[in-house]
Formats: sequence, structure tokens, C-alpha cells
Amino acid sequence: MTEILIQKAYKEVKKYRNKVKNDPYRLNYHLMPPVGLLNDPNGLIQFKGVYHVFYQWNPFETAHGAKFWGHYTSEDMVYWREEPIALAPDEWYDKNGCYSGSAVEEDGKLYLFYTGNVKNDDGTRETYQCLAVSENGIQFEKLGPVLKLPEQYTPHFRDPKVWKKGDHWYMVVGAQTLDEKGIVALFHSNDLFHWEEAGTIAGSDMNGLKDFGYMWECPDLIHLNGKDVLLVSPQGLNPDGDFYQNLFQSGYFIGELDYEPLKYQHGSFTELDRGFDFYAPQTFTDEIGRTILYAWMGITDEMEAHQPTVENGWVHALTIPRELELQGGKVIQKPVEELKKLRKDQALVKNNEFEAVSAELVIDFQKNGPFKITFRNEASLSYDTGKLTLKRRNLKTGEAESRTCKLASVSKLHIFMDHSSLEIFINGGEEVFTARYFPDSENVIVSIEGKAEFTLIKWDLG
Ligand code: FRU
Repeated sequence: MTEILIQKAYKEVKKYRNKVKNDPYRLNYHLMPPVGLLNDPNGLIQFKGVYHVFYQWNPFETAHGAKFWGHYTSEDMVYWREEPIALAPDEWYDKNGCYSGSAVEEDGKLYLFYTGNVKNDDGTRETYQCLAVSENGIQFEKLGPVLKLPEQYTPHFRDPKVWKKGDHWYMVVGAQTLDEKGIVALFHSNDLFHWEEAGTIAGSDMNGLKDFGYMWECPDLIHLNGKDVLLVSPQGLNPDGDFYQNLFQSGYFIGELDYEPLKYQHGSFTELDRGFDFYAPQTFTDEIGRTILYAWMGITDEMEAHQPTVENGWVHALTIPRELELQGGKVIQKPVEELKKLRKDQALVKNNEFEAVSAELVIDFQKNGPFKITFRNEASLSYDTGKLTLKRRNLKTGEAESRTCKLASVSKLHIFMDHSSLEIFINGGEEVFTARYFPDSENVIVSIEGKAEFTLIKWDLG
């Protein structure tokens, strides 16, 4: 069974490889599915010096379905190797998808925790938190479920993220209570195999929150500058001014976690990204101690089926890797240093119009004022009266749509353009806008107008 399913997936990759490769919207330096649909980053880890990125993958369709774990490895997070499929949905406990999860190292082995998703014929669901292990980081052996669904949650119980503190293991799981509130549940273990429930650390109606989502996906609890930061992707938040404009959100709480007695006191929820396409982020700590985030540069909404890449047999990508820091009570995101390796042909741009497709732009403002940057006639970033706005064309309606963020001033923009994506880091990563966009491949012009004074350095990215 396993072999047949995996061979079927490889056949699909082979069959569509050229079609996918020749898509003008194929990205230059982002991780994408070889064919089919990619969603969440999973199992991020640096294991024996090598960076591993796994991802939710449906090789058979550009739609959601029984997910595999695809796998890339790298020495530097810049140049990647496509590795054999890590997990396929071929056991009774994961037959409808090896859903999202995380990786840890113990005794020189790489362990993957993931959600086994089961959908029954009568429409009911089952969920199992499962374990797989590898000696070499490439071939994985499934060890089966290690945690069953506790009775106080619905089967929307998934996305285990595991970490070690002292000599004890902890796991957060995204869950839904029986009265349909999103929460994060904490478990602990001495040995990775036996897990006990510790309680609920945060949720829709806890710690001063009210009606804050019907399900919380992909929790991740990290330690940043002495604080315990909980990253989570709540579903079911209503738009609120400039906030929560996408169908689902991803953001964080800053707080302090006490284990005994269990208590997580936290502040308010802050969105990690202010653009259109950012969901289900996951972090890992690398061997030099950096906290690095990848997210899905996409979201499950009505737009995904309208992406023009679907015609060519693939959809979605991951963001670039971003280093996280806590500064002034905010999580700051910065592109990792290694990405400088992609730079070639540095240019100090003096014109208001220049060519850029796969490029990095650093814009330093000497004098604040209104400005507008137009990207290949398909998207624009404008700043006026304390508001920064990203506009693009809605793929379904053809109309312009926008996302806006209040900012007292803009001193610096750091922009990563790829063939069909924009990642815009503002004021050293204080805010970030991430978006896919699909310009005419003939149109390669970026133009800047306005009263602001700035210097602009551009690199083409190889
Ligand atoms: C988030 C998510 C996870 C789930 C996975 C399935 O995008 O819905 O909660 O594990 O995707 O692909």
C-alpha cells in the first residue's frame, strides 16, 4: 500500500514536472510543491547541521485532500534539495491525511509528530497525534498514535508542536471545545511516547478574550527574550477595522508560562502579517540559537482555486525564512542573513522607474512623505497620512483589494520580490505585508512616485 501510494505521487511529479517548471509564475527562491498543492510548513528543524523543511502536500490535485509530508533539505536555507516523501497517508490512523506537526531531535534521531486525520463514511472525524522516527533524517518509520483525543474536545484537535524544557517534553495542540471555542491544550511527557494532559493554556474565552474564534490551528510556543510567545492561527475572527481582514488570521500573544500550577498569562493578540497571504507559521531554533519562522504564503480561501498557477498543475509556496526577535513588546521579523547569498548586480537606483522581477529592494527614507510604489502594474504600496496600504487585483472579481496598516512613519522598506510574490518588511520588520500577485510576465517595471526622499538599493536575486 505505502509503496503504491508513494509511487503514484512520484508518477504525478514526473508527469507534470515540465509543465510546472515552465510556468512563468514559478518562484525563483521560495519553496513550492513539485506539483499539486502545498500548505503549512511542518517539522522545521536543523538536524545534524542540516536544515529540514517538511510541508503539507497534496500531490494529486491543486486542492486540499489527504495530505502527504513533502520534504526539502538545505545547508543554508538558500539552496534546497528535494528529498523523498517523508510521510504518506497510508495507515488506518492517518488515511485521510498526515496533517501538520513538528520535529524534535532525541538521542541522535529525528522524531516527527503529526496529526493522523481520519474521515469516516458517515461524515464523522477521528484524530490521532502520531509519531514517526528516522535515523538519517530522510527515511521515516511510522510508530503510530501516541495521543488520543481527550473527551472534552471535538475531533478538531490537531497540529502538535513539541519542545523540550529541562529533561521534560511538552506539546501544544490546537483544539476546539465541545461548545466550539478555539483553544490551545498543553501535554507533557518524559519519553516522547507517553503523554499526559496538563490543561488549557489559552483560548477563545480565556484571559480576557471573548468570542475569539471557533478553532485555533497550528499553535507554537516559543521563548523569545525571556518571554513565552504563543503563535497561533485562530479561525472565526470577525474583521475589525484594518485588522483580521483575511478569512483566517495568524498572530501571537506575549506572556509568561508557569508550569506548576499551570498558568499562561498573556497580553493581546497581534497579527504577524498585514498582507493577503500568510497562514499557519511555524518556528524552530537553529544551532546558533536563532528563532526562525516559515509560514504558508497562502490561505484556504475562495481565491486559491483562482490562482493562475492552477492551470499549470501547482499552487502555493512558503515564505522566505524570517528571524524573530522581541523588541519593545513586539515580535519583529527579519529576512535571515543567508538570503544575501542570492544577491547579484547591486544597483543604486536613481530613476523613478526600474526593472525588477526577482529582486531585493532596500529603501531608506531621509524625509518622510507620501509615496507610491507600483509593482509591475499589478500591485502597489502607498503611504499617506499615517497609513500604509498594499493593493492588488482580486483574482476572482478583477477589482482592486487592499490591506492597510497605521504607521506613524516609514523609515525603511525591505522588499523581497519574486515572480509572483511580494514580502515587504517595514521599519526593520515592525510590520510585514506578504502577498502573492500575478503580473503580466512582460511587465517588469517598478515605479516610485511621491514626495518622500529616499535612497534605493536593488539586487537581482539569483
Ligand atoms: C492549517 C491546517 C492544519 C491542518 C492542515 C491540513 O492550514 O488546516 O490545521 O493540520 O492545515 O492540511
